Amino acid sequence: MKIRENLLQMFKQAKGEFLSGEEISRRLGVSRTAVWKHIEELREEGYVFEAVRRSGYRLMSTPDVMIAEEIKAGLNTRVFGSEVHYYPTIDSTQNKCQELAKAGAPEGTLVVADQQVGGKGRLGRVWHSPPGTNISMSLLLRPTLELQKCPQITLLAAVAIVETLRDFCAIDAQIKWPNDILIDGKKVCGILTELNAESDRIHYLIIGMGLNVNTTAEQFPEDVREVATSLYIAKGEPLRRVPIIQQILYRLEKLYDVYLEDGFAPVKERWERCAITIGKKVTIRTLQGSFTGYAEGIDDSGVLLVRREDGSITKVYSADVEI
Ligand code: BTN
Repeated sequence: MKIRENLLQMFKQAKGEFLSGEEISRRLGVSRTAVWKHIEELREEGYVFEAVRRSGYRLMSTPDVMIAEEIKAGLNTRVFGSEVHYYPTIDSTQNKCQELAKAGAPEGTLVVADQQVGGKGRLGRVWHSPPGTNISMSLLLRPTLELQKCPQITLLAAVAIVETLRDFCAIDAQIKWPNDILIDGKKVCGILTELNAESDRIHYLIIGMGLNVNTTAEQFPEDVREVATSLYIAKGEPLRRVPIIQQILYRLEKLYDVYLEDGFAPVKERWERCAITIGKKVTIRTLQGSFTGYAEGIDDSGVLLVRREDGSITKVYSADVEI
């Protein structure tokens, strides 16, 4: 695997220029036949190489596959994504990440799938991830944090995703509390954080992110078609998934470092800049019933503060919010 990873890295660094078979074999320390075999293998996966006698090979185009080598090549992070596990089809990246976490996988381990057949949403809902279109990924974190601070990490992830959409994809997106990401009022991304802890000690935390990238309206199940969207629908053109993953990981790690160093205040400020909920009249739906009020803001643990008609403030820990 390492040879393929290094081979792809070399071609990317060559930026479309030719690399001779001899140079590749010398730099990788393998035979020219082995180089040829690896290139053939990559071709089968959708990479396009031009081969010219005496000049060598050059990489013409890469497929939109989220394999580990693609994600790692050009990934500008310290630990996030240092281990990447890619699956063409899986039940849920959350489950796989749990399994890896229990087996001792390090912080920053990423599980990515092209298709999930048992994708999990918040509040026990199903999350649809058809093949070839979306980003479904789960990131393992092992922070030394008090248990009650965990929701802050979910808010942090939402900020990193919205900032990626705004600054990298040039798409305006907002956060709807707690962690739905919307474009034009429709959901484009959901975040599910799962925790493994005992009394007040966190063993690990898994942030699951499901981002609709190239989904067409018809690909959404009928029951969510009216309320779901994708980057493709918003932009009118398909986007490559790997650079988006790399950006999210990069921004997420930078923000996580800020958070570990300076606490929640800088994250909260950025969250508020991304949020659509704050300052709006909202309807809160919980298992216990519904009420309306005015969303004042969030407190330091990420709880939504809603002012009721009588002026009292209700703390909302978990709910569906309608704006
Ligand atoms: C939500 O209900 O809004 C949260 C959806 C989270 C979906 C992601 S996709 C990757 C990860 N694996 C899962 O099974 N769920 C999360």
